[in-house]
Amino acid sequence: MNFHVMTLFPELIQGAASQSILGRAENKGIISVEAVNIRDYSTDMKHHHVDDYPYGGGAGMLMQAEPIYRCYEDLTEKIGHRARVVYLTPQGRVFDQQMAREFAEEEDLVFLCGHYEGVDERVIEMIVTDCVSIGDYVLTGGELPSLVMIDAISRMVPGVLSGDSAEIESFHDNLLEYPQYTRPEEFMGRKVPEILLSGHHANIEKWRREKRIERTLEVRPDLLCKANLSKNDLKYLRKLKEEKKKEEENNE
Ligand code: ADE
Repeated sequence: MNFHVMTLFPELIQGAASQSILGRAENKGIISVEAVNIRDYSTDMKHHHVDDYPYGGGAGMLMQAEPIYRCYEDLTEKIGHRARVVYLTPQGRVFDQQMAREFAEEEDLVFLCGHYEGVDERVIEMIVTDCVSIGDYVLTGGELPSLVMIDAISRMVPGVLSGDSAEIESFHDNLLEYPQYTRPEEFMGRKVPEILLSGHHANIEKWRREKRIERTLEVRPDLLCKANLSKNDLKYLRKLKEEKKKEEENNE
């Protein structure tokens, strides 16, 4: 899968993407991350400006349509077809695991990173296929959000992760992950739960499932109605809720 990032800060993208799991996947040729500098497409030969004041007034500067459009046309010619173009903005659809899975089906994906107060709306209308937000907060630019998306999407590309770790983790079935422990058996007086040392696989699986349900109820109860819960899961959930209610009554 090939990621193409249109940005004013190519080093930021290239630096982050060359490390760790993404870097390894790139070395293995499973993914590629290419950052293209929008400034190279400025029509201002002297200062290479790519921004200007907003019509109608208001704070800050906007990225101009033309350098972005020229950058996109050049990129499209190199890619050889019109790939999906993601514009990172708090005004977009909120990114989630389902969206990551869907984007992972693409062969090429283009990102447009905004800066300053945003981007001239006309170029968004002309080239962008997907407006995406990574959450309800405002960042200074689209580079970090595009890296977040590249990371989450890459994990879904076959061969990037070892084994089936992409599948067993949180969110593929709308339950949070169970707690995990590694050596030593005791750390500053805290012991690894006995059951994990028992070697009894069925009991361990049951314990892990229950921990996932407990955590989700505690931290993200909104996910539970989307989770695929068995009869036993529901029974356990009812038990947890009753315990919680009793505890609250005792605290009153
Ligand atoms: N640009 C600035 N803030 C953003 C956000 N929350 N998501 C995506 N792009 C952004």
